[in-house]
Amino acid sequence: WPEQARLISEINRLKVERNAVILAHNYMTPEVFHGVGDYVGDSLGLAKEAARSDAKVIVQAGVHFMAETSKILSPEKTVLIPDLRAGCSLASSITGADVRLIKQRYPGLPVVTYVNTTADVKAETDICCTSANAVQVVEWAAREWGVDRVILIPDEYLARNVAAQTTVGVLAWKGRCEVHERFTAADIAEMRAAYPGAEILAHPECPEDVMAAADFAGSTAAMIDYVEARRPKQVVMITECSMASNVAGDVPGVQFIGPCNLCPHMKRITLENIRDCLLHMQFEVTVPQDMIERGRQAVQRMIDLPP
Ligand code: 13P
Ligand code: SF4
Repeated sequence: WPEQARLISEINRLKVERNAVILAHNYMTPEVFHGVGDYVGDSLGLAKEAARSDAKVIVQAGVHFMAETSKILSPEKTVLIPDLRAGCSLASSITGADVRLIKQRYPGLPVVTYVNTTADVKAETDICCTSANAVQVVEWAAREWGVDRVILIPDEYLARNVAAQTTVGVLAWKGRCEVHERFTAADIAEMRAAYPGAEILAHPECPEDVMAAADFAGSTAAMIDYVEARRPKQVVMITECSMASNVAGDVPGVQFIGPCNLCPHMKRITLENIRDCLLHMQFEVTVPQDMIERGRQAVQRMIDLPP
């Protein structure tokens, strides 16, 4: 693939010229993930890296809420996203005004917000969480506020899946990930019948019956760690399609089988638009100063929790 190789070397040269790093989510295509990502990982890992990096420019190879999170954590840096249309069905399911109404209805309860939200929602939030730490964050918030239930928004399935793992009560919203909500328990039953020895891993944005039927549930990074550590002969990853492609090269002998769904938002990011992004310094993601200040407290609290 000479064209891909040419683009990768052009991007790597531009990164040095611009003093830029590329933060690539696990759902990027393999040529982005392996070819140009300086840091790759799940939402939590990328947020931590955005806070640590001393580059002047961050290119978010991921979706818009991730770029906003990077800007909130590094307001002095230029944060770019290669395609401004890379959104998320969870982030667009709720607004800051919705959160203000929820707070009026349930005064005194902490608001825990999944990072898959816009900056105006984070500005109304007490602490953020990702799929990697949601149970820990919910329990921390209940302890700190001295309450027995918390608000966990906007992913309805993540909230129910967290509720199944804690005694803390969880009040949910009706947002859904358009990629993970499509998996069904019947998909898993079919895989079990066809491949009885396969291990089935599911992302916590899936419906509860899918989670209950899986062998392991975790964030994208946790799923990759699981496969690298246990090296199952056959594995099903109930998540976005690029996950299996990205990890396959590192685990020879593991066969990846079964259904996956594409995230149309993540798939907007390509080598071509990453090259254009660095060449023309487009498209800059900005967040109003007051939202940065209020949102940072919520994201930083999450990052500062012990592992
Ligand atoms: P994690 O990488 O944090 O598991 O999130 C998955 C996701 O859907 C991000 O958009
Ligand atoms: Fe949003 Fe789901 Fe796509 Fe992640 S996979 S960006 S949660 S729509």
